[in-house]
Amino acid sequence: MQKTSRQLENAFVKKQKIISIADFLNGCTNSFSQIAITFLAAILFFNHQVTFGVVIAAGNFSTSILSSLLTITTAMTRMQSVQEINKQIIELQQFNRPSKKPNNEIYSISTHNLSISFKNGETLYYPNLEIKKGEKILLCGDSGVGKSTLFKLILHQIKPTSGQVIFKDKYNRKLEPNYAQIGYIPQDGHLFPVSISDNITMFNASLNSLVKKFVERTCLKKDVLNMSNGVETKVDLDKSNFSGGQKQKIILARNEIRNFPIMLADEATSAIDSTNTYHILKNLVSSNQTVIVIAHNLDPITENLFDRKIHLKYER
Ligand SMILES: Nc1ncnc2c1ncn2[C@@H]1O[C@H](COP(=O)(O)OP(=O)(O)OP(=O)(O)O)[C@@H](O)[C@H]1O
Ligand SMILES: [Mg+2]
Repeated sequence: MQKTSRQLENAFVKKQKIISIADFLNGCTNSFSQIAITFLAAILFFNHQVTFGVVIAAGNFSTSILSSLLTITTAMTRMQSVQEINKQIIELQQFNRPSKKPNNEIYSISTHNLSISFKNGETLYYPNLEIKKGEKILLCGDSGVGKSTLFKLILHQIKPTSGQVIFKDKYNRKLEPNYAQIGYIPQDGHLFPVSISDNITMFNASLNSLVKKFVERTCLKKDVLNMSNGVETKVDLDKSNFSGGQKQKIILARNEIRNFPIMLADEATSAIDSTNTYHILKNLVSSNQTVIVIAHNLDPITENLFDRKIHLKYER
């Protein structure tokens, strides 16, 4: 979602740039044509070929006709650039709805000889892992061991230097995954400057009726009750009117409401107190989704909510 919203933002910037260039060219052509017509009429007047009244009429004519032309060309340019934006918004909304095609449902995710080298010379090596459909995995390991990078490799956001991430279907056949089936909460998730409710639904009106349920499931209800406008309270990015934990609960609700078959949560509860973390994760693992949660320092009772724990270590 972050990636697509960034793309949308870039599209808006591009649109603005095209409009500015088009406005500039339209304006230049308009001014030049007005001056040229009036100048031509003036030359004809000094050559005694036309009367002074014709010079005035030519000036008025060029002003009104060319101004109208300017309005029309400006409007057409804007309409064309809006078409492009509309196309992108439709694509974004499609991204918003996970596809439920049964024939490419992911039954397992495995890593095979996976490693990635960065430009600074650092290389991360991963053990061979296999995560089955419906499993609830706690992924932990020291800071910098490569947990977030593993999620990015699974999501195909970055490419491995060696090895591969393999997705398989029900019949154990390799599968080209539909990445829209995978819900992802990045370590640095963002809110948008709209209401809590819109931040959760991301303007997908068909999810409006589910907001209340997911506000409860993510322990956000108590926070929302203390706000004068409830779920309609607007996020003010300048004033930071939400705590770190409240932001994380909204981002969790945004992902959970979509009921992705697979959910990758990267330190999605790091700013939330341990009692609420327990309840949020308990609700998360009670679904039939495949869930992989990266977390540090969970208490033993919360750790026990998961089927198993994968502890990443530095490998060579
Ligand atoms: N794009 C990149 N360029 C260079 N190095 C990178 C890049 N992405 C990650 N790394 C390095 O890879 C290592 C693993 O990073 P990663 O973010 O996956 O760690 P992590 O296990 O999620 O740590 P934390 O628990 O602190 O979030 C770090 O040493 C990091 O500096
Ligand atoms: Mg990380």
